[in-house]
Amino acid sequence: MTLPDRGVLSRREYLKGLVAVGGASALAACLEEESNVEIPAGDPDAVPARQHAWNGVLSGDNENVVPARHHVLLSVSLARDPTDEDRERFENALATLERAYEWSHEGLLFAVGYTPQYFERVGWDSLPEPTALTDFESPEFESGDCQIHLASDHSQAVLAAEESLLGEVEEVNGVEMDSDIADLVGSRERLTGFVGPGLPAEHQDTPGVPDSEPIHEEAPFFMGFRSGFEESQATEDRVTIEEGPFAGGTTRHVESIAIDLRQWYEQDSQFQRVAKLFSHQHAAEGLVGEYGEKLDDSNALSAERIASTLEDARDHGVVGHAQKAARAREDGEPLLLRRDFNTTDGDRPGLHFLSLQREIDEFVRVREAMTGADLAADSAVGSITNNGILQYLTVRRRGNYLVPPRELRAFPDP
Ligand code: HEM
Repeated sequence: MTLPDRGVLSRREYLKGLVAVGGASALAACLEEESNVEIPAGDPDAVPARQHAWNGVLSGDNENVVPARHHVLLSVSLARDPTDEDRERFENALATLERAYEWSHEGLLFAVGYTPQYFERVGWDSLPEPTALTDFESPEFESGDCQIHLASDHSQAVLAAEESLLGEVEEVNGVEMDSDIADLVGSRERLTGFVGPGLPAEHQDTPGVPDSEPIHEEAPFFMGFRSGFEESQATEDRVTIEEGPFAGGTTRHVESIAIDLRQWYEQDSQFQRVAKLFSHQHAAEGLVGEYGEKLDDSNALSAERIASTLEDARDHGVVGHAQKAARAREDGEPLLLRRDFNTTDGDRPGLHFLSLQREIDEFVRVREAMTGADLAADSAVGSITNNGILQYLTVRRRGNYLVPPRELRAFPDP
């Protein structure tokens, strides 16, 4: 892929574009652009035992956790079964990244997850294969062995980490990289993206992003609203596996979605958008504001509002995405810790919906609640029309991963 043209882009757009392209030349361009940026070094002894312990080192906005700005999901198919020597090398490479970068959004956060295909190599079969989860999708499935989620506010950190693991650069943030996993990589795939206020609005020139109805300049996501409120997210404890060989780890599901933003912005009014994303009551009572600025640490879904989802489908002919997904809460507690981000992979707008949960079954249950086939059967709401945001989404890819605790992160053998 060719590098983005610095001459016609703002600095922020350029840096996002470089992450999307990836590779050694994107990294070189990024280092040049960010030559004035100093990224704090890290200390492996200060890194927590859970790979998914990110919340404490992300920044905050009132009571909500603010996600890191740049993301890469690097999926790797191994060329052969890993040996103990490979495990040591991979662990050493990951520990070097921890020395090079502070464990924070200003440095680098990462988590290595493994697929059912990987676990077949080591004779463990407790992680389910990904499957289609609705009647109206035919996604591709992850076909690799492991997937590394890299996240940082600095594009150079995610790019350098990726390139160093692949053996393309020998130094990261001034620290010598003395091992990598290049010889183990059979094939690879990368999913990339970004999240943050104003970042989607800069994509008005991406095919599929309408320019007639501009995305709100404060919105962190393409569909124009804030998301990930504290009270609608599972805690890191809630998603942590409690028993078995991977106690202390978690599971990850990645659902990659293309979004029909033209239809969303050009056919629907703000009232409809709020009703379809949150609930009819949110729209009727103006609870959300233009992009979610009226909400603080909660999406304002009371237990009563969640319980009346079917009633809303019957009375108003529309149900909210968040409202119906919240039906899957257990004892009032959300099951998923969402760490999703926008993407323009394939030069079209979308979302890599990444969520952590204790077990993949929990994701499947929440996804069923979001799909809301029961609502369509019992009301005027269609299987996709007015049924939350289903009408605008096409699921392209799914993957299931087990994210071991940090001490088992390098090619685990349970
Ligand atoms: C383009 C795709 C999507 C967009 C734009 C989107 C957006 C949103 C927004 C704006 C909210 C309300 C704010 C909040 O509570 O954080 C929300 C809540 C939620 N979404 Fe999504 N979402 C998408 C896909 C998904 C998918 C694939 C799932 C998988 C099941 C999902 C599950 C949830 C859950 C569980 C909640 C919180 C419900 C609760 O309060 O308990 N979303 N989403």
